[in-house]
Amino acid sequence: MNVLITGATGYIGSHTIVSLLENGYEVIGLDNFSNSKGNVLDKLEKITGKKIKFYQGNMLNEDLLDKIFSENKIDFVIDFAAYKSVGDSVSKPIEYYINNVSSVLNLIKVMKKYNIKSLIFSSSATVYGMPSKVPIIETDKVGGTTNPYGTSKLFVEKILDDLYKSDNTWNICLFRYFNPVGAHPSGIIGEMPNGVPANLMPYISMVATGKLPLLQIFGNDYDTIDGTGVRDYIHIMDLADAHVCAIEKLHNKQEFNIYNLGTGKGTSVLELVKTYEKVNKVKINYKIAPRRTGDIASCYASAKKAEKELGWKTKYTIEEMCKDAHNFIVKND
Ligand code: WQD
Repeated sequence: MNVLITGATGYIGSHTIVSLLENGYEVIGLDNFSNSKGNVLDKLEKITGKKIKFYQGNMLNEDLLDKIFSENKIDFVIDFAAYKSVGDSVSKPIEYYINNVSSVLNLIKVMKKYNIKSLIFSSSATVYGMPSKVPIIETDKVGGTTNPYGTSKLFVEKILDDLYKSDNTWNICLFRYFNPVGAHPSGIIGEMPNGVPANLMPYISMVATGKLPLLQIFGNDYDTIDGTGVRDYIHIMDLADAHVCAIEKLHNKQEFNIYNLGTGKGTSVLELVKTYEKVNKVKINYKIAPRRTGDIASCYASAKKAEKELGWKTKYTIEEMCKDAHNFIVKND
């Protein structure tokens, strides 16, 4: 079975390709390298021993999408390509809506033209806005998003819902990712943000290796176990495997499905810092700073639906997430 991966050289896309190739799928990749590097393709070959067919370019280029679908027999599409910085999105709403929404409109237009109707869309837990309760389940209210990044994901979810309502021969799966962290255990690929990371785990890794002097913990006065923010960190390889499970279970269906991808467990910032220090025998210098605008106290998933319907369950522990994150940054120093 041939799978088209958009955002192929990005953090989640590249790790998902490893899982797909190791499970015998053929992969066609598309990326414009706006938040990744071309050498990831060589790294994927180094890990799996397989090359993928790759197109460089942007999903806003409809002719390129048409070329890809006319030149390849595609059975399933996984769309990862999007800008994903919450902070950035507040100052660049136009770029975020064009890139994250218009690109998907192009994609489904071309998919319809070639009668390819199986799509996994990478959404985010941010669509739940300020959750009224935790753990969050898929039928909980969405909306009230606090930034254009989260709103762009919400818009696309609604577009795909309307598409399915107009034609229920589509096969659409929305994956709401919680907090993907860590790296492939080989340390060959991992999360390599351009510049100073906005997310906690890569920031911790850069402090641990002396690339940054100090971690600021944004607030310790939340109503949580130790006052710091609680999130559902999920190992990137568990996240990648969920996509393989979804294709296996859903490839011949005509349905509209939504799944949370998390561990079902919350971990606070301080707990993550302490675990990282213990597992990697390093010291993380930090100081308590004011809360970050738009942050919420607690956000973690119920992942029972994906377990029941996709036969998927997370395997990696928080310790392994910290070990693999550190191993990657050390190996790619
Ligand atoms: C986690 C916790 C911070 C940095 C966002 C997006 C989500 C996904 C992951 C794309 C919070 C605290 C962080 C730091 C800190 N992105 N923190 N100091 O905000 O939960 O989720 O990134 O898919 O969609 O919304 O992740 O890693 O930024 O923050 O104290 O330097 O760490 O306050 O409690 P977040 P995060």
